Amino acid sequence: VNTEEQTVLDAYQWLVKLYHHLLRHSKDGKQALQYLYDRGFSDEAIDLFQIGYSPTSKDFIVQFLSNKGFHKQIMANAGLLNATNDGNYYDRFQGRVIFPIRNHLGKAVGFVGRTVSDQEPKYLNSPESSLFKKSKLLYNFDLARSEIRKKGEVVLFEGSADVISAHQAGVTNGVASLGTSLTESHASLLRRYVDTVLICYDGDNAGLNATYKAIQLLKKTGCTVKVAALPYKYDPDQYIQEYGKNKFQEQVIDAADTEMVFLMKYLKKNFNLKLEGDRLQYVERVIEEIASLESSIERDHYLRALSEEFNLTYDALSQELNARLLNGK
Ligand code: CTP
Ligand code: MN
Ligand code: MN
Ligand code: MN
Ligand code: MN
Repeated sequence: VNTEEQTVLDAYQWLVKLYHHLLRHSKDGKQALQYLYDRGFSDEAIDLFQIGYSPTSKDFIVQFLSNKGFHKQIMANAGLLNATNDGNYYDRFQGRVIFPIRNHLGKAVGFVGRTVSDQEPKYLNSPESSLFKKSKLLYNFDLARSEIRKKGEVVLFEGSADVISAHQAGVTNGVASLGTSLTESHASLLRRYVDTVLICYDGDNAGLNATYKAIQLLKKTGCTVKVAALPYKYDPDQYIQEYGKNKFQEQVIDAADTEMVFLMKYLKKNFNLKLEGDRLQYVERVIEEIASLESSIERDHYLRALSEEFNLTYDALSQELNARLLNGK
């Protein structure tokens, strides 16, 4: 951390406190606080996750930071303020709820700002910087780390709202990739703490496609992957709001699919299984995935399942599998 980065970290620390205070105590923040209550966020969660609010003013934060002696240009370089071409500065997150993003040391290094009044974009993030690299950070990793280690398992969500809702529902080993792009650095960070990653991305197409990609990445690191069984088009937060914490624990987290069961369901969408040709292609595709399983017991298990589902002989499937294994896939 160089001196400019240290200055930025100090500014972040001030702003986390200020935004939180404004959410809790300002007149302007009342609507935002109500918005969070309406979403089911408790006072405890709002405090624990240091949620805040940036007022609708154009320069409240500009004034605050310069009164504290921070150079506006340094603040703008770090994405804490916006700068115009003619050398003016204005507040970046006007009128947004603020979720601080902390690094593994618990220091705030970025903000996610969500509109409370349907402005576009829905989410505005801090820009990438030497301190804030979305590809390396996982939301809530610092708070969840000890739970993650204790359980030997981490639950991976898309968004901060999912992490917070899940935390309120008793799932305290959750982190978020802040979107659907899990990276190799995320995967190897998690691998250092756990054997098992339970992916709990949104149940929409974007979430399902991202789950497929995340499985490939996580498997390369040697993690066991499970996939939460969310109904189509629900995200974890919506599910918890609608069905409550017990159902979330029992029917989503505890009922998670193995990675192969997820893949079998996921790959089905690309085929019309009423057609014989498609059925055979699907079976070949699943055998390709089965071939990549380390454990011969698991390979046998899924091969049997496939043989029963499609009424094909186990021997035929097993010949196909062995041919692939001999060819090194
Ligand atoms: N995201 C983002 N920019 C966007 C949309 C999403 O950075 N324009 C990130 C946010 O971190 C968000 C995550 O991707 O939390 C997941 O996106 P989405 O599922 O659309 O948002 P939710 O977390 O479900 O947000 P909410 O429940 O508040 O609508
Ligand atoms: Mn206070
Ligand atoms: Mn989503
Ligand atoms: Mn979502
Ligand atoms: Mn959501």
